[in-house]
Amino acid sequence: MNLNTDIFSEKIGQIVDPDLDTTLAELKAIKNISIDGDKVKVELELIQPFHLIADSIKEACEGVIAEVDPAAKSEIVISDQNRDYVTRKVLPTVKNIIAVSSGKGGVGKSSIAANLAVSLSKTGAKVGILDADVYGPSQPTMFGNAGGKLEAEDNESGDTKAIPLEAHGIKIASMGYIMQDGQAAIVRGPMLAQYFTMLVEQVKWDDLDYLVLDLPPGTGDIQLTMTQKIPLTGAVIITTPQEIAVVDVRRSIAMFQKVNVDILGIVENMSYFTPPELPENKYYIFGNGGGKKVAEKNSVAFLGEIPIDPALREAADSGTPLVVSAPDSKQSEALNALAHNTIVGIRKHHHNNIVYPDMEITM
Ligand SMILES: Nc1ncnc2c1ncn2[C@@H]1O[C@H](COP(=O)(O)OP(=O)(O)OP(=O)(O)O)[C@@H](O)[C@H]1O
Ligand SMILES: [Mg+2]
Repeated sequence: MNLNTDIFSEKIGQIVDPDLDTTLAELKAIKNISIDGDKVKVELELIQPFHLIADSIKEACEGVIAEVDPAAKSEIVISDQNRDYVTRKVLPTVKNIIAVSSGKGGVGKSSIAANLAVSLSKTGAKVGILDADVYGPSQPTMFGNAGGKLEAEDNESGDTKAIPLEAHGIKIASMGYIMQDGQAAIVRGPMLAQYFTMLVEQVKWDDLDYLVLDLPPGTGDIQLTMTQKIPLTGAVIITTPQEIAVVDVRRSIAMFQKVNVDILGIVENMSYFTPPELPENKYYIFGNGGGKKVAEKNSVAFLGEIPIDPALREAADSGTPLVVSAPDSKQSEALNALAHNTIVGIRKHHHNNIVYPDMEITM
């Protein structure tokens, strides 16, 4: 059969990116299609992070090729379409930086940040977590390396960089590795900002798909300074179901708006309780639907509800996040769904902000 590229670009252009509900043609995702004998090579550029959709897009392309010519061999190559991170002064090797934040303390920010990091890494992504909580850094406990310290290493250009600790496949740097216990009470303002800068700029994060930032609770000067010092892709706001939490969510949203950071969405933690002996039952102890309502009111996405579960606390205390210790549990399912929705939020954010170069595709 005499193959020509037009038929492929026409049909591949109609494949839909499921997260963005937009065709590859509209997304200008086809970089090149070439034919060499009976081999068809398709080069695509997709909005990153695309770990979760790459396989289905590849299969759809292979399907198109097989439909046109069952004897043809196919090669599909996918690369990042949006690469603006490489020009950043701060963290140019980190593709996406996500702040996990809450208006008040104790809502489960750190627990969710830890599980989110691991769930993201399970998609095949490289993930780090930066624990910026000066008041009570919890990631060392949640990842089982409390008491750890950052070791320094000289690189080829003579700079000294600190090596992040690693656990459950996640690179971790925490205020807890550089501050003494109780030091936050005496170290204030500029000094704290300096510590934070150290964790951002002097840690050897290398190439990461995601860096999850566990912020200290609240919306004060420290949090504002931190959100300005790090180039955030977006923020995930954690709340609890109580009516009273609405005010805190508003405050968090206002803080991120002040520094022009997109809100990826709201997570409701401690939403309901399911007794182990009644696995189909959900008891909404603090009320039902508060998080969803506050998300709707503020026109931001609702990323999911996480149940109250003693296993989540036990996992955190024992240094193994729940999505590692009980990967097939209903709770892990909820945490993985939250990660999935966060990824979709990130991709939508990039899609809304992408500037397509004004050029013709050459084939
Ligand atoms: N869904 C949940 N089910 C049961 N326990 C939970 C859940 N979420 C969090 N916890 C527990 O609640 C406590 C507070 O959670 P966590 O430390 O994650 O909150 P935080 O918002 O980071 O707190 P802080 O404001 O102090 O940083 C921890 O003991 C944690 O294990
Ligand atoms: Mg915390």
